[in-house]
Amino acid sequence: MRVDHDPGTGGQVSVAAVAPLDNPAAACIARVENLGKEVVSPEGKLIILDGISFSIAQGESVAVVGASGSGKSTLLGLLAGLDTPSRGRVWLAGADLGEMDEDGRALLRAQRVGFVFQSFQLLTGLTALENVMLPLELAGQPDPRRQALDLLDRVGLKARARHYPSQLSGGEQQRVAIARAFAGNPAVLFADEPTGNLDQKTGHRIIELLFALNREQGTTLILVTHDPELAAYCDRVLELDDGRLRERREG
Ligand SMILES: Nc1ncnc2c1ncn2[C@@H]1O[C@H](COP(=O)(O)OP(=O)(O)OP(=O)(O)O)[C@@H](O)[C@H]1O
Ligand SMILES: [Mg+2]
Repeated sequence: MRVDHDPGTGGQVSVAAVAPLDNPAAACIARVENLGKEVVSPEGKLIILDGISFSIAQGESVAVVGASGSGKSTLLGLLAGLDTPSRGRVWLAGADLGEMDEDGRALLRAQRVGFVFQSFQLLTGLTALENVMLPLELAGQPDPRRQALDLLDRVGLKARARHYPSQLSGGEQQRVAIARAFAGNPAVLFADEPTGNLDQKTGHRIIELLFALNREQGTTLILVTHDPELAAYCDRVLELDDGRLRERREG
């Protein structure tokens, strides 16, 4: 797979360039086949993920659950192309991530993917508003300030727009990270414990926001969570256990 950068358009390419229609995985927003991840630790070879396969359709909501250390964050990183597998294949938005280089994967993420990390990874030198505006500006969206303020309003933080991350609580930073992840109107949103740092009421509000965007924009949600309320809202639950996958389908 090849991504052509056109210097005349500032490196922007259409997603069609990286998502050919004859791709067998094109109907799925995400698919993994026989995915394995191993690392060498001081104790020897550590198998984190052991031959995992599944597909996720556009618009589905999926919870990834399992004990601490079971490989949930590792799986999310591999699905989003932030990490490379030891074996197996990953397709995201119709593109085979293994056939793309670092730049191609970054471009695909910028155009189609929102990511809320377990550690929020806000840019510390930018205010809450500037953090949310950044992906909108990079995508050349009209009126990024107004759109970013709307998103901050939806997560209940309009009054904190001028605050820097160091001036926000952990839960407030989490909510800025969620607003930023939605700013590019992504086809798929990955979130690693999006309600992990929030009190029950705020957590509930974030869950409602995630699923409102899922309904309104058809955003696929792939959420790592220890929160049974959040898992129960999802169409499907994938449970990781000792590097293997078990699937439950929610009612
Ligand atoms: N680069 C690495 N080197 C060594 N071990 C690693 C590496 N990355 C992850 N691990 C180990 O792999 C296992 C899975 O890690 P991962 O972060 O995916 O777990 P998790 O399910 O997200 O856990 P938590 O619920 O605590 O966030 C852990 O035991 C972790 O220590
Ligand atoms: Mg984790």
